Amino acid sequence: MHLPRMIWLSLFLAMSHVPLASAMNLARGQQLYNLHCAACHGARGEGVMPEAPKFRLGERLEQPDMSLLQSVKTGKKSMPPFFGILQDAQILDVLAYVRTLR
Ligand code: HEC
Repeated sequence: MHLPRMIWLSLFLAMSHVPLASAMNLARGQQLYNLHCAACHGARGEGVMPEAPKFRLGERLEQPDMSLLQSVKTGKKSMPPFFGILQDAQILDVLAYVRTLR
């Protein structure tokens, strides 16, 4: 048995399953979500504030990222605007994470 080759092979398999770059974006998205969004939308997307969509149930997530991005930037009803607080790329990372809560 050729041990180094096996190590490389298992590393390759582990990394090809979830591309490293998107795993890092999701981790960043999760951090930002917990910091800025979880108070209303719930750590698991269960929705804490009554009017807040429950992402766990996929509420509002039928829309494309670009329109959700717009709502988060400008704010919507009791959701404050995140323009000037988060950059577009950060909000997109958060939205990618939000889509994993379903
Ligand atoms: C103060 C509470 C609050 C916070 C904090 C908050 N939201 Fe919301 N969010 C809401 C409410 C309430 C709505 C529903 C607005 C409505 O009735 O259309 C909403 C709606 C949304 C929607 C759906 C928008 C649409 O167009 O349908 C998305 C996506 C969203 N929030 C993402 C986020 C993200 C991402 C964060 C963190 C960066 C965040 N929210 C922080 C309360 C909040």
